[in-house]
This record gives sequence, C-alpha cells and structure tokens, in this order.
Amino acid sequence: MATRLFQVSSHLQMPWQPDSWQACPAEQQPVYPDSDVLSRALDELRTLPPLVTSSEILALRKQLAEAEEGKRFLLQGGDCCENFAYCTPEVISNRLKVLLQMSLVLVHALRMPVLRVGRFAGQYAKPRSSAVEARDGVELPSYRGDIVNAPAFDVAARIPDPQRMIAAHSRSALTLNFVRSLIDGGFADLHHPENWNLSWVTHSPLADEYRRIVAEIADAMRFMETLSGEPAHNLDRVDFYASHEALLLPYEQTLTRQVPRQRGWFNLGTHFPWIGMRTAALDGAHVEYCRGIRNPVAVKVGPSMRLDHLLRLLEVLNPDNEAGRLTLIHRMGAGVIADKLPPLLDAVKREGARVLWVCDPMHGNTENSSNGYKTRRFANIRSEIEEAFDLHAAAGTRLGGIHLELTGEDVTECTGGARDLTDADLGRAYQSTVDPRLNYEQSLETALLIGRKYRQMR
Ligand code: PEP
Ligand code: CO
Repeated sequence: MATRLFQVSSHLQMPWQPDSWQACPAEQQPVYPDSDVLSRALDELRTLPPLVTSSEILALRKQLAEAEEGKRFLLQGGDCCENFAYCTPEVISNRLKVLLQMSLVLVHALRMPVLRVGRFAGQYAKPRSSAVEARDGVELPSYRGDIVNAPAFDVAARIPDPQRMIAAHSRSALTLNFVRSLIDGGFADLHHPENWNLSWVTHSPLADEYRRIVAEIADAMRFMETLSGEPAHNLDRVDFYASHEALLLPYEQTLTRQVPRQRGWFNLGTHFPWIGMRTAALDGAHVEYCRGIRNPVAVKVGPSMRLDHLLRLLEVLNPDNEAGRLTLIHRMGAGVIADKLPPLLDAVKREGARVLWVCDPMHGNTENSSNGYKTRRFANIRSEIEEAFDLHAAAGTRLGGIHLELTGEDVTECTGGARDLTDADLGRAYQSTVDPRLNYEQSLETALLIGRKYRQMR
C-alpha cells in the first residue's frame, strides 16, 4: 500500500492465534447458560472433518484476484439465513438452479466467466439489532439463527444451545455434499440447461428473454463443436464455492485448522467468510479472527462506514496488499449510495489498495410494508445496482460482483419485479425468518438487468 496513514491498534500487533479473538470485545455472541455443555460441543466439533479444503480456498482466491482485474464477475447469493428445516433436496437444488440460470445470463451478457459463490452450507448465524425481543410484556433472548436457538417465541426455544453448532456443521456438510454431487453428476452441464428449469414456473414474463439466451448459447456451442469436430470440454461442470458470515466465533474457531504442506491457518468451514456490518470494529473480535486466516475474506461496508475506519481495515486485513484477499461489499441503499460510496472509492483507489468491489443492493433497502412485513422494493434494488455501476465508472474503479439474498422458491417477500408484487401479496408466501429474499423471477430479472446495464456501459 502506498502510505501507512494510521497505526494499527495495539492488540492487533500481538501474534495471531485461532483463539486470539477471545481477548477482544466480541459483538453479537450468544450467552450460553452452561459452559461445560459448550466446551463439550466445541471439543466434538474440533474432531469432526472439515467441510472444504485448502486447495479449493486457494483456487477461489485466485479467481477473486481475476475478478479484481475485470476478468471474472462474482455472483454471490442465497438465503439471508439458512434454516435447518430447509435442508431438503428441493430447496438446495432450486437455489442451485436459480444461481446457474443467473450465471448463464451473466456469462452471456458480460462475455466473461462468472465466479459462483453461494450464501449456503453454513449461513446459520444472524446478527440482531437487539439482544432481547419483547412481546406483550415478555422478554426473551433474540433469535440468532438456527445455529444458536430456535425462532419460536418461547423460553425453551430461545435458550442458546451448543448442540445446534453440531447440527449446523452436519447440515452444512449435507448441503455441500448434495451440491457437489449434483455438479459432478452433470447437473450444471451447459448442454442441458433444461435441467435448471423450475417446475412451478409456467409462464414467467421473463421466460422468452431467458430462452433466447439459452438458444444463443446452444448455437454458439454447436458452432464450436462443429468447428473442432469434438465436444467442447469443460462445459459439463462448474465451480461452486460456499460462503457465510463468520459471526459465531467459537464455531469458526473449531474449524480453523492447519493443513500439511501449507503455511498458516485456514477456516475449513467455508471457502469465503465475511464480516458483517455490525461486527467490523477495528479492535473487535471478528476483525481479529479474520485477519489471521488464509481464506479470502469480505467485509460489508454500510453508509455509517467512516473513511479512516475503512482504510485501517484494509491494513489490518490485507497488510501485504495481496490480490484476491479482500472483498468490500457495499450496501448503502438506493439514494444513499451516490453520497456515501464515491469518497470511499476514491480513497481506496488513492491508497493503491487491491480489493474486489461488490454491490449488495439488499441490506440498504429494507423497509416495513404498510401491512407489517419486512420487505424490499425491487425498484430500489434495481436503482442501487444501476447507480453502483455508474459510480464505479465515474470513479475509475470496477464493480466486480453482486451479492444477493435470493431463493429458488416461489416466495413473496420483496415487492415489485416482473409480476409487480404489491404489499398485499406479501402475506401469500412470506417464509423468511429474517430478511426478505428475491424470488426466482426477481432473481432472474436482476441478472437480466445487470446484463443490460453492463452492455450499455461497454
Ligand atoms: C446479511 O448479509 O444478512 C447481513 C446481516 O448483512 P449486513 O451485515 O450488511 O447488514
Ligand atoms: Co440479510
């Protein structure tokens, strides 16, 4: 990095260890009632196999470095909060189908490979604005995701239970195993995009545009195969990586391991952990934990992020300014982004810091509907994405990816989009226990609009 503007806080100069975060203030952690039960669960987790390998993590880092250079585009998406009950073949394969369809649309429009990262196989912990929830004069611990407690508003459900970490590890393994098997079995084969059709989508307003793209790709493949006289290789499988918010640090620590013939430590519980907006304090436990692992890491950057804070995060999390190490996911909100983002882009550019910039158009656009649902309007999501492309172009920086909350299910959680869902539609199929997700059509429409915007700007 060009200059060192700031001194790193004193504890960050101490040697890093997988447990050195324990000496720092840790936000958003549950209070477990019985420390012996907690220790036993953590001991068990430490003996269980990892979920991913260091070579996959290093391959992802390389691809993120390519995305920084504009040679790839990152598509990161999945539930706000995975749910134990939704660890089913339908939910997992439908989510995979949507992500595959979206990535096909993006490859076609952007003319570059898409790096696919799911918010899955471990996205079980949620930060909450309050540690307690009160209803009708009764106060209980907040629901913090299925890895911690259960959503029902009763005492037993809300007590943090360490066994849930073991259940989360198992469900993450089941999810990843199914995703890997589907892909190895040819599910992602570009010759058969019909595998990715969702049965309940009868006549989507977007279907024609999608089918045209699929037909063009099929033509291009046939042309290539005719020319070369043999089947095109590498079209039958894709890489998929897993990511989640590294929030529940005792759990993350148990999956932080050393690997033969590799230096340092890896979080082998996911490929790509991120630090949420509420836990990005410089002297906090989450930054301390993430600075020492060799995984690529991401940080959410919201409208309250100060410039000096961001510059110090760059130094702490990527002191050697390595390509592919650090991703910044801005989530400002439509209307706010034009004000808040440009100074950050300029400063990071001035510093010569290597980062991948990604837009999360979801978390700055959450609001309450007239009938009491937590929702997001598609028009605001769209506008934040379009503004993000324009602001990066004006700053001479590059928007290298998109981060979305979405599902392959036919939910009604966000309003607007191709079917123009209204507040009145929200009650029909609102399933999220936390943030509202794009449904299948709204997700595909997002990919189409990114494609259109990108082509306009070229
Ligand atoms: C999330 O990604 O679900 C989340 C809580 O995001 P943020 O930290 O940006 O609010
Ligand atoms: Co969310």
